[in-house]
Amino acid sequence: MKQADVLIIGSGIAALQLVTHLNKDMNVIVLTKSSIGEGNSPYAQGGIAAALSPEDSPFHHYIDTLEAGRFTNRTDAVLHLTKEAPDIIRSLQQQGCTFDLTREGELLLGMEGSHSHKRIVHGGGDQTGKAIVECLRSHVGDHVSIMEDTMASSLLMDEDGACKGAQALGPDGTLQTFLASHTILATGGCGQLFSYTSNAASATGDGLALAYQAGAKLTDMEFIQFHPTLLYINGETKGLVSEAVRGEGGYLVNETGERIMEHVHPLKDLAPRHIVAQTIYNQMEDGHDVYVEISEISKFSERFPTVTRLCLEHGIPLEEGKIPVAPGAHFIMGGVETDLVGATSIPGLFAIGEVACTGIHGANRLASNSLLEGLVYGKRLAHHLPSIPTPKLHPITETYHPRPHKELPELRELQDRMMKGAGIVRTKEGLENLKQWLERFPLNLPSQYVGSAVSKEQLTLLFMLTTAKLITTSALSREESRGGHFRSDIPFEKKSWVDVHIHHELNKQKG
Ligand code: SIN
Repeated sequence: MKQADVLIIGSGIAALQLVTHLNKDMNVIVLTKSSIGEGNSPYAQGGIAAALSPEDSPFHHYIDTLEAGRFTNRTDAVLHLTKEAPDIIRSLQQQGCTFDLTREGELLLGMEGSHSHKRIVHGGGDQTGKAIVECLRSHVGDHVSIMEDTMASSLLMDEDGACKGAQALGPDGTLQTFLASHTILATGGCGQLFSYTSNAASATGDGLALAYQAGAKLTDMEFIQFHPTLLYINGETKGLVSEAVRGEGGYLVNETGERIMEHVHPLKDLAPRHIVAQTIYNQMEDGHDVYVEISEISKFSERFPTVTRLCLEHGIPLEEGKIPVAPGAHFIMGGVETDLVGATSIPGLFAIGEVACTGIHGANRLASNSLLEGLVYGKRLAHHLPSIPTPKLHPITETYHPRPHKELPELRELQDRMMKGAGIVRTKEGLENLKQWLERFPLNLPSQYVGSAVSKEQLTLLFMLTTAKLITTSALSREESRGGHFRSDIPFEKKSWVDVHIHHELNKQKG
C-alpha cells in the first residue's frame, strides 16, 4: 500500500499543470495507464485560445464560447476561463514553453471556427499540445512519484462516502492500493467509444466510469463533439486535420468541386463544429466524398507539419491540394460535475480537464478551449488544495472492483454501434436499440466483486460500456437538438430551454 497527499489519475496537460503548481511540500503520486504525458494532450494541434490581440478582449472570447455552447454554459466558469487565459499563456512562456511568433516577436495568433477574432496561440505549427506537454514535464519535481503502466480500477470510499484514494492494476496486473487525502481524476475523454475518432487509444472514459461507479454526479453526457475533419481513407479515420487548416484558408469541397459549406451557415467553413460535421455527414450519406481543399494555403507543410506527416504516412499527395476527410468523435462536453475549483459531489474527489464538467463548454466546445480548460483548472485546483483540511487516512476495507461479465462485446462492435446509434445524427429508435444492446452486458454490483480477476483489457471494456450507457441514456433523455447532440427526430432547440442550464444527474444505478 502507498500513501500520498495528492493522488492524480491521468497524466495529460491538466494533470501536469496541477503537478507543476502544487506546493513542493505535498507528496504526490501520479497513476498513468500508459506513460507520462501520453494521451490526447500531445495530439492537440490547433492551440490555446486567449484574447491577446489589441482588438480582442476576454469579453469577446466569453461571448464566442457561449455561442458555441448554445448558451447552456455555466457563465461564471466561462468568465474565469476567458479572463485567466492571457495570464496562462504568459506564465507558460515564463516557464519556458515556446509558441510560434511573428517576425516582430509577438505571438502569432491563428483563427479557428466560431471565433470572432484571431486568438489561437500555437506551437511548432500544429504541434501545440506536444510542445506544452514537453515543457510542463520538464518542471515535474522529485516530490512526485510517477507510476506508469498502472491503471486505476476503482476509487476507495470510506463509510462517510468520502474518497480516500484508489486501487489500480500495476504493470504486472496485480492490484495495488493508493491511499490519499485528495484524489484527482484527470483521465481525459472517451473518443475511443466511437469507430471514427481523433482520440488517442487511451481515451476510453475511465475516469467517467470510475466516478460513476463511486456515486459521483455526472452532467451533460449526451454532448459529444464530432470534429468535422479527420483524415479518411478506405472507410477509416486516421487522425486529425486541424480546424486551423480552414482557419488559414482551407475549405470543404465534394468530389465535384462544390463548396459544401457555401449556403449552410454565414461563417461557411468556419461555422460551429456541429454544423460542419453534420453537413459532411449528410454529404457522405448522399454518396459524396468530402475533401479539405488546401491549394490556397502557402507554406502548408511548414505551418502544418503534423497534418503533412499524417498525409504522407497514408499516401495522400499534398501537391494535389485535397485531403479526404470525415467527421469523428473528438471531445465530450459533459463529465464529472465539478465546481469552479474542480471539486466533485464526493468529498475528497476532484476532476479536471476533459473528464470534468465545469459547464464551461455548454452544448458544444469552442475550438482551442480544451487545452485552456486543463491549464486553468489544473492551476486553480493546485491553489485550492492546500486550503482544504487534510482528512485522516485509515485503511479502507469495502471497495468496488469491476468484474467482467462472461460475455463482453468485441471492442469494434461497441465502437460501430456507438457511432451508428449515438453518433453525429441520433434518433429515439437508434438510441433505444443501442441501449437495449448495451443492457445485455450488465456491470457488476459491489457485492459480487472479485478483486484482481480482471485484466486491463477487460477493465477498459467495462469502463467503455459504463460510459456508453451514460451517453446513451442521457441522449435519450434530451428531447431536442443542441450543439453536440443532434436528434433528427427532433431537429430543433426547444425555445423555452434556451437560457436554462439543463443537467442530467445520473446517480449510481445497479445492473
Ligand atoms: C483542431 O486543431 O482542430 C482541434 C483543436 C480543438 O479541438 O480545440
